[in-house]
Amino acid sequence: MRHSLKASALLLGLSVFINAQKCPDYGIRECTAPEILALETDNCTDYHIFVARGSDSAYPGHQGDLIHLVCDGIDASCNYENIIYPANSSWSGEGVWCPSAEKGTKNGRTQMQDYAERCPDSKLILFGYSQGASVALDILGGGGGAIYDCEQDSNPALDRSTVPGSHLLAAAVFGAPRRTANQTYSHGDGANYNGTAARTEEQLAGLAPYSDVLREYCNYGDPICAPGTEPMVVENHWSYFEKFQDEVAEWVIKISKEDEDQGKNNSSSTSKSATTATATSKLSTGKPTASATETLDVQNNAAETTSADATGTAPKMTWGAGGSLGALVMGIAIAVSML
Ligand SMILES: *[C@@H]1O[C@H](CO)[C@@H](O)[C@H](O)[C@H]1NC(C)=O
Ligand SMILES: *[C@@H]1O[C@H](CO)[C@@H](O)[C@H](O)[C@H]1NC(C)=O
Ligand SMILES: *[C@@H]1O[C@H](CO)[C@@H](O)[C@H](O)[C@H]1NC(C)=O
Ligand SMILES: *[C@@H]1O[C@H](CO)[C@@H](O)[C@H](O)[C@H]1NC(C)=O
Ligand SMILES: *[C@@H]1O[C@H](CO)[C@@H](O)[C@H](O)[C@H]1NC(C)=O
Ligand SMILES: *[C@@H]1O[C@H](CO)[C@@H](O)[C@H](O)[C@H]1NC(C)=O
Repeated sequence: MRHSLKASALLLGLSVFINAQKCPDYGIRECTAPEILALETDNCTDYHIFVARGSDSAYPGHQGDLIHLVCDGIDASCNYENIIYPANSSWSGEGVWCPSAEKGTKNGRTQMQDYAERCPDSKLILFGYSQGASVALDILGGGGGAIYDCEQDSNPALDRSTVPGSHLLAAAVFGAPRRTANQTYSHGDGANYNGTAARTEEQLAGLAPYSDVLREYCNYGDPICAPGTEPMVVENHWSYFEKFQDEVAEWVIKISKEDEDQGKNNSSSTSKSATTATATSKLSTGKPTASATETLDVQNNAAETTSADATGTAPKMTWGAGGSLGALVMGIAIAVSML
């Protein structure tokens, strides 16, 4: 038992190291390839993507390929900016998840407001994964409440009828811990299950005005967004981009085309922002680089789920969970990342 756990933990750690080096190669990896980072700038473009990454991952984390696909497919200028926040998993300490998510929500709103005021002709797109998915939903619908043994401050919903809410073209989130099942925007075979925490009626009402431009994905067996679905395997939290990024990119590109057509109909002058999509790389701005820490993210979130559920129906993890294995995986991941 010990040996097989050790062996699989070792494999997990090693696969992180291998996968972190290349995109696209889905699973436990982050997308920080130069062609993706080159799209990062907050200059005014026709379409601008805000990205909230998952816990403990490098910017922009797992959503890099999705960003790239969308900007590649959009027939206009397009770039992205990261929502700046720590993305601490609860593994990093007691009560750290909530302040992290609060910061993401606050910064995300401010960044969207600032950008939309500075770039009034730009259409906004919002993506989020894991903790970042919760953050994105909190930005739009309002957030707050108990989760992962802490209490997140509440924030109001973003008004759909004024800037920046009125400039939102599309939003897609994947594997959110704070979610409610069976919404019109729920997608994936875990759609019928509440997350680690559910959204309040008020928060759902806050999301409702965005339902026509929102897709919220949850996989069955994802310990974060669908705890209690059996078998819960961590791969179900990693597989969103392998499974859904093509359809999400197609959906966003289609919406952008409709938007472009409408813009052309409304005015004869197709005056679009002059900025090109080819952005200056921010590789040298001290942003974190790809690392093996995403393993810790999922490991941690799964452990969080387990502890959060300790009083109720404790979910079973087929890949094992709990302090000693977590510490073991963390040790191996850190060791491997130093290779
Ligand atoms: C939270 O994340 C930031 C990086 O995003 C890191 O510097 C900090 O040490 C983390 N905090 C904890 C408690 O782990
Ligand atoms: C979602 O809807 C399905 C089908 O109606 C139902 O079985 C399930 O209990 C609902 N989920 C939640 C969390 O209420
Ligand atoms: C799911 O969450 C909603 C609140 O958003 C709650 O009304 C409902 O009872 C929950 N369903 C289950 C099965 O826990
Ligand atoms: C644009 O105008 C044309 C011609 O009037 C019409 O056929 C088309 O449906 C319009 N497109 C949109 C997106 O409104
Ligand atoms: C085009 O005009 C319609 C009707 O006035 C308006 O609802 C829509 O937002 C406009 N679209 C663009 C892209 O300006
Ligand atoms: C972004 O804006 C800055 C300042 O206006 C400008 O110097 C830079 O060339 C722009 N970058 C791109 C990629 O357009």
